[in-house]
Amino acid sequence: MDRKKFLITASLAAFSISAFGRIEKKEGEDKFTGDCDTTNDILGPFYRADAPTRSDLTFEGLEGVQVTLKGKVYKSDCVTPLQNALVEIWHCNTAGEYDNSSNKFLHRAKWFTDKEGEYSFTTILPGKYLNGKLYRPAHIHYRVTAPNSKELISQIYFEGDPHITKDPWATQKKAVHRVLPISLEDTRGNLAVNFDIYLAGG
Ligand SMILES: [Fe+2]
Repeated sequence: MDRKKFLITASLAAFSISAFGRIEKKEGEDKFTGDCDTTNDILGPFYRADAPTRSDLTFEGLEGVQVTLKGKVYKSDCVTPLQNALVEIWHCNTAGEYDNSSNKFLHRAKWFTDKEGEYSFTTILPGKYLNGKLYRPAHIHYRVTAPNSKELISQIYFEGDPHITKDPWATQKKAVHRVLPISLEDTRGNLAVNFDIYLAGG
């Protein structure tokens, strides 16, 4: 292989493009602009506006496995963190029930990203509920809005969930980057899920 061809090959190998159009950046490489938008999912029937602004959704007597959801929100250039993006989440309890009426807005919250674009919620892993005859996989709904960016309505799922394989939404190709691992965050057994969000331009 001559040197010129080698250089072209080497630069192409610097990043990989997945089957779903996502450009995956590797450590230490130059910044670039690419198609990195986080994909949407259905809103579902249980969204409520005006959830409380809070990062900690837990409360005394809450049942479930605690988890920290965290990540960064980025602009459509894929690399610039977005400060003050509004991140809303909602999910059901361990029995598969949403709080659709109480003024406590259980398992619902909104939070604004900091200057690094970071957000964090402490909550529990949700249970499951029936969609017709099938259980939907455990999931957490997201709505993310920011000036000059397109609103994102989406959901995350969890790796290893056996109900993913028959769910009409979690099985879609565009959901593949939203099926996320639950990882041990520290030696005390705390669990975390990381979900970085890339908004499309407005
Ligand atoms: Fe849901």
